Amino acid sequence: VNQPAVVGTVAVIGGTGKEGKGLAFRWARAGLQVVIGSREAARAALAAQEIQARLGGSATIRGRSNLEAAGEAGVIALTVPYAAHRETLESIKPAMNGKLLIDATVPLIRGKVAQAHMPEAGSAAQEAKDVLGESAEVAAAFHSISHEWLLEGGAVDCDVLVTGTSRQAREAALALVNAAGLRGWDAGALANSAVTEGLTSLLIHINKTYGSKHAGIRITGI
Ligand SMILES: NC(=O)c1ccc[n+]([C@@H]2O[C@H](COP(=O)([O-])OP(=O)(O)OC[C@H]3O[C@@H](n4cnc5c(N)ncnc54)[C@H](OP(=O)(O)O)[C@@H]3O)[C@@H](O)[C@H]2O)c1
Repeated sequence: VNQPAVVGTVAVIGGTGKEGKGLAFRWARAGLQVVIGSREAARAALAAQEIQARLGGSATIRGRSNLEAAGEAGVIALTVPYAAHRETLESIKPAMNGKLLIDATVPLIRGKVAQAHMPEAGSAAQEAKDVLGESAEVAAAFHSISHEWLLEGGAVDCDVLVTGTSRQAREAALALVNAAGLRGWDAGALANSAVTEGLTSLLIHINKTYGSKHAGIRITGI
């Protein structure tokens, strides 16, 4: 399937963390302009330097505060712990202005990570839409992709299911899935993110049960 090209700068809010750094690395490696966001701009700059050093001179990656990063980008990926999800969204809301948010947050509960538990809104991504407002475009993706796979840099034996508020939102997110070197599928309305977020707990359970580290999923029969 041909996906539209990624245009402009991509911000990774929480990009100093494991999953965010993995996505930032993959997108910078693909030649995209990437801005890492952090609660501390200096921490973001360090993370950007680390990725820049790994990729060499051609990479275009910088670090900013979360709000500045969101302001400088056309698409904003969110990779923060669920406990910080709402607070982080409130902090970047002034810079969102209808820009696409791609939420990778999984609403895990400490001590019960192998059991799916969805917030009242239905999912973390639906909560994000509630925080950002009626006109916000939100997609949800990457929940089942381990940061170790992303940072290791090779092929990933797991598909990415992308849900979102509109077809355009899902297509834009799928373009970023492809840019990260992953295989993605349009998995429908944002309400379906309850399933894709919940799959993470299921995979954690499978890993515990079978002594594996990287259980994944593949869509077949297409
Ligand atoms: N790890 C994975 O393999 C993986 C896979 C798929 C999805 N996810 C999802 O991605 C999200 C991030 O996971 P992660 O493993 O990357 O987490 P992490 O390493 O703990 O990093 C998250 C980043 O969030 C920021 N943050 C903001 N508020 C925070 C707070 N109150 N406490 C701690 N950190 C805070 C921190 O950046 P600053 O301190 O610089 O602001 C931190 O570097 C989670 O929702 C997770 O479910 C993770």
